[in-house]
Amino acid sequence: MEKHTSLGSIIEAREHWIKSGLRVGFVPTMGALHDGHLSLIKRARKDTDLVVVSVFLNPKQFGDPSDLNSYPTNIEHDLSLLNKMGIQHAFLPTPDIMYPNGFETFVVNDEASSILCGASRPGHFKGVLTVVLKLLNIVQPTDAFFGLKDFQQLALIKRMVQDLNLPTNIVGCPILRDPDGLAMSSRNTLLTAKEREYAPMIYEAMLAVKKDFESGFHDAGAVSRAFRKILSGSYFSVDYAELRDAETLVSYLEKENHQPHFFCAVNIGSVRLIDNLAFF
Ligand code: PAJ
Repeated sequence: MEKHTSLGSIIEAREHWIKSGLRVGFVPTMGALHDGHLSLIKRARKDTDLVVVSVFLNPKQFGDPSDLNSYPTNIEHDLSLLNKMGIQHAFLPTPDIMYPNGFETFVVNDEASSILCGASRPGHFKGVLTVVLKLLNIVQPTDAFFGLKDFQQLALIKRMVQDLNLPTNIVGCPILRDPDGLAMSSRNTLLTAKEREYAPMIYEAMLAVKKDFESGFHDAGAVSRAFRKILSGSYFSVDYAELRDAETLVSYLEKENHQPHFFCAVNIGSVRLIDNLAFF
């Protein structure tokens, strides 16, 4: 596997793959790789001729410095996994490479800041969209792969690609869960043993309110309250629990023929976990 730690190195490799006319799949990550990340890489391997993975803990998408500092990292393990998977190119930039002195241009989706993770993490999606656009420009893949685990992120990236006429095909991949239902996340390693034991209740609560929904309770407010009630024990603090239209992310209204999709962010101790589930 070629490890690119400079822009010059990745650009040189890019010139080869562009000339060769290969279909290039790109999987951007922040590292601490788990099976959820690997599922995107496997999909990229299936769909394309050559796979590039980036590992970059993007400081611009973390508002709170303590959140950035506590984010898990395990670069040796990540590289050995990527090697084992036969990945040809890993892009491993440092913050100085991505944001040299004088950096001042950002991508902003004005709508995104007001809902779901955008409301509780101001500036988060500005950091995400900016780094994703930069990575797409640097790697110039034909296809880029993102998880439905971060549903709002994927929706905003698709929006950006459409709005800014980017040539990359964006592929959304299903959420991978542990056998007990907890959505895989790098942040899961931050949970204590007790918190990890309770964490699958998030998925159980989503399934329970989905069942209510299927039996006819179609009021978005009632769905949210029912979810919060299930997780009202001392271990959890629900940041948001919302039923929205999967396509537009506006609040779900049955009469509008919306596709109901449930979104939540839940704090367990100091760890913030997000999850989502289609209700149709
Ligand atoms: P990160 O959290 O490392 O996730 C990288 C990719 O893996 C994202 O597309 C995410 O949706 C996907 N992913 C994470 N957990 C998953 C799971 N359980 N099942 C399926 N896919 C999963 O998301 C980011 O990094 C960053 O915001 C990034 C896009 C790299 C920009 O910095």
